[in-house]
Amino acid sequence: MLQNDLILRALKGEATERTPVWMMRQAGRYLPEYMVLREKYGFFERCQTPELACAITLQPVDLVGVDAAILFSDILVVPQAMGLEVQLIESKGPYLPDPIKTAADLKRIRVPEVTETLGYVFEAIRLIKRELNNRVPLIGFAGAPWTLLCYMVQGKGSKTFDEAKAFCYQQPELAHQLLQMITDTTIAYLQEQVNAGADVVQIFDSWGGLLSPDDFEILSLQYMRQIVAALHDKVPTILFAKGAWHSLDKMAATGAQGLGIDWCIDPVMARKFAGNQVTLQGNFDPAKLLSPIPVIEKEVEKMLAAFGPGRHIANLGHGILPNVPVDHAKAFVHTVKNYRHSK
Ligand code: CP3
Repeated sequence: MLQNDLILRALKGEATERTPVWMMRQAGRYLPEYMVLREKYGFFERCQTPELACAITLQPVDLVGVDAAILFSDILVVPQAMGLEVQLIESKGPYLPDPIKTAADLKRIRVPEVTETLGYVFEAIRLIKRELNNRVPLIGFAGAPWTLLCYMVQGKGSKTFDEAKAFCYQQPELAHQLLQMITDTTIAYLQEQVNAGADVVQIFDSWGGLLSPDDFEILSLQYMRQIVAALHDKVPTILFAKGAWHSLDKMAATGAQGLGIDWCIDPVMARKFAGNQVTLQGNFDPAKLLSPIPVIEKEVEKMLAAFGPGRHIANLGHGILPNVPVDHAKAFVHTVKNYRHSK
């Protein structure tokens, strides 16, 4: 039995004595303890070594006091397992030297046997669960098929992912073949994460907001729907499609228990769009953690009041920034933990 199951209860819609809290990208560069391991080991070495992934996953639980651990890994281990080379270039981000552009490129990749190619992730999860010793739940995750396609076709980060979009608009059949391959891999990958011990899974659609509402349905949501359906009877799922507030109603209808929102929609409006049968997660502007601590405290309380009691998991609206002082991250978490909604 978990000692702290606030997040699981919030996802079920049960009453909780306070709002639970965690932060996207909570294991990362704002933590000096992470930087020590970053000096010594390469990025994918940290992901692929279960002892390192475990140590990094536990850091924010021990140091910042969040209500959940999230597996330390990256969404780009899936394209790697499918046969694409992925590098992480210091201060530049992901780089895929041979991206997918043609039908011939698609033949170079496959839906892999995940237990063979991603076994290190499942081993890390088993180790993390042992080390957590039931203190808090463990969140597993994967990238949404659309967001992974963006990197697999564009080959690097981008503000617009115009080459990825051009691929979808010029060669829709190929695009859908690729999206289905990613979806099939992701379903197997997340099912194995759950078998290894993940208590919740989150799908990161970081680039969902680049699409029109119609294209979001065609290129993203229909694939995320398959993933949610495949996991539905196993663990709660959280869909985080940054910028795709226009489709909160459709995302709620997938049966996902949680929906992540960013700071460009206010909580009252998000609740109106999403309806009352789903838990909302978010939505503090990560850059606001650079404010003085008293301002953070006031703004967090304002956010909590706007969400109201129940069916809310406090989080940032996107990943924590590397230049956030640790004390500011702690102020965010502590303010949530100390807040009580008036009866
Ligand atoms: O939330 C967590 O603490 C778990 C770990 C996690 C990482 N990446 C570790 C990481 C998670 C959940 C991710 C997801 C991820 N990765 C996303 C979706 C979420 C989002 O932020 O939109 C995306 C788009 C990626 C792809 C990716 N990985 C990018 C664009 C970058 C470079 C930019 C950056 O933040 O440095 C990475 C590298 C990465 N993934 C780092 C970490 C801690 C930084 C690596 C380092 O320099 O140490």
